[in-house]
Amino acid sequence: AAPVRYEAETATISQGAAESNHTGYSGSGFVNYANTTGGYVEFTVNSPAAGPATLVLGYANAASADRPLNLSVNGGAPASLAFAPTGGWANWATVTTRVTLKAGANTVRATATGAEGGPNLDYLDA
Ligand code: GCU
Ligand code: CA
Repeated sequence: AAPVRYEAETATISQGAAESNHTGYSGSGFVNYANTTGGYVEFTVNSPAAGPATLVLGYANAASADRPLNLSVNGGAPASLAFAPTGGWANWATVTTRVTLKAGANTVRATATGAEGGPNLDYLDA
């Protein structure tokens, strides 16, 4: 089926803020993670069936280093994703990963693990 888009700015946000001061985002804005470790964005992803799924995260990172996020599904063991520099806060890119979902509602939490916090996170497609 065609992916469903979940906007970061309407997800649950801890130590971050919905902002719109850089152009090119999807929806009404993006999440600016606080520049510290531990902030997260938690999406509720609905899946029609249990099994493997592809997740695509839209983001921008104008810093010169990666802004890694730990991705945890339903509270499970996190996978670290890098979120490499994109060359500007209005330059958006995607990171794709495979996860296992259960049927129905799944929590997908993306937690900043670096001292500079996460990238600016735009959306999750599932
Ligand atoms: C700038 C930018 C923010 C970004 C931040 C960062 O302040 O305007 O959108 O989140 O840098 O380095 O994390
Ligand atoms: Ca930030």
